[in-house]
Amino acid sequence: IPVDPFDLVIFGGTGDLARRKILPGLFRRFCSGQMPGEATIVGAARSEMDDDSYRTFVREAIVEFGGGRHCEDGTLDEFLKHIGYVTIDARGTGGWDDLAGRMRDGIVRAFYFSVAPALFGDIAERLHNYGLATPESRIVVEKPFGKNLETARALNKTLAQHFDETQIYRIDHYLGKETVQNLMAVRFGNMLFEPLWNSQYVDHIQITVAETVGVGGRGGYYDTSGAMRDMVQNHLMQLLCLIAMEPPARFEPDAVRDEKLKVIRALEPVDYHHIVRGQYGATDTQPGYRDHVENPRSTTESFVALKCHISNWRWAGTPFYLRTGKRLKSRSSEIVVVFKDTPHSIFEEDAGRHRNVLAIQLQPNEGITLGVTIKEPGPGGMRLIDVPLDMTFADALGPEAEEVPDAYERLIMDVIRGNQTLFMRGDEVEAAWAWTDPIIEGWTRRGEVPKPYDSGSTGPDDALMLMHRDGRKWREIR
Ligand code: BG6
Repeated sequence: IPVDPFDLVIFGGTGDLARRKILPGLFRRFCSGQMPGEATIVGAARSEMDDDSYRTFVREAIVEFGGGRHCEDGTLDEFLKHIGYVTIDARGTGGWDDLAGRMRDGIVRAFYFSVAPALFGDIAERLHNYGLATPESRIVVEKPFGKNLETARALNKTLAQHFDETQIYRIDHYLGKETVQNLMAVRFGNMLFEPLWNSQYVDHIQITVAETVGVGGRGGYYDTSGAMRDMVQNHLMQLLCLIAMEPPARFEPDAVRDEKLKVIRALEPVDYHHIVRGQYGATDTQPGYRDHVENPRSTTESFVALKCHISNWRWAGTPFYLRTGKRLKSRSSEIVVVFKDTPHSIFEEDAGRHRNVLAIQLQPNEGITLGVTIKEPGPGGMRLIDVPLDMTFADALGPEAEEVPDAYERLIMDVIRGNQTLFMRGDEVEAAWAWTDPIIEGWTRRGEVPKPYDSGSTGPDDALMLMHRDGRKWREIR
């Protein structure tokens, strides 16, 4: 279904995110017929460029980052007719009148702030002063949304001076991932799971987001951030919220966000014995983290594993184990719900005993598996084995599953539709910082240095110990 006509301005239109995600995502939606003929997209950035040279830039970005066969069949040429560019001075006066002149009345206006947070206030102010912002217009802001509670509050305050909360779309692209949304469908669209979804039946939950990439060319940013701020405070906490929240009354923005907020607020402070920080080291052939960030004394973590608890009626007593890291064995993100043992086994001791495990794989192969205990086939008596009920979407849904949209393209379309369900509300972001700040401050206070780990491993051994101590183990990163 096509969205309404819109004007979309991308501040930071020549940046990396625009090149890799935003522009190719918009093109894919154009190809699928969702972008209406009257839509315009205006890149706005510091570089001196005219419309034509920006169109060349956009063409190259789309060819490089996934335009596919439509790059050849004339569709890309059609798409480029919707593109324009304005050279803009975010802190000055240059370009603003030009940009205002390109906006059309009576249609959706969205402004994507794909720039450093330090510029959010300047841009928001100018959108008002130059008459670009209307009561119906929307702004989209990227992470990092602050560095801690104080800076996040200040950012929220700045944006609130010019925009109402219903106009602010804070992106966490994990919420746009297909399986992450599926998590809500699985939990709240089936009778099967929800009655068991509590500490009476669930032994523990694991959330792993493992990456093979290192910090790449983002060393400057990453070294002042670390895995806790870069991944845990946002992506992992959002996953935690979706897995742990109460059923919202409706699938509507505030109903969903209220429930997520309650989870964050119910999180207990983390005991520092229950957190492991790691940093990938160098090998003979590969540079390590400190080489990548060009900081030989860096104590920033590229890996975090932690155990936390949610103090509420549903989850008291069920630990949640979270881990994420760069340069790990493979790229694999999954949420694993490990159910408790049956209260009593009617079988012989040596028949074997297995727990039901529900694994929700977010990437790379999106799907859900449920481990079920059955009798081993054959004449060997009652021996129990664990077999997976496998619902890999690509197998179950065929070609449709291969067309899984990228998180960004879905989220941008939600902005145009005015649907905030998959965006973070200001109070959620602040609550998440309020929980992570003491952890980070504790590291600084104690002068804690991250444990080294090998590239291609599963992280520092201490992360394994975190679970072994509790008589549990991480599901293997595959
Ligand atoms: C970003 C982080 O938000 O998410 C990156 O800043 C990380 O450091 C990325 O690599 C992971 O996203 P995805 O979609 O590749 O899992």
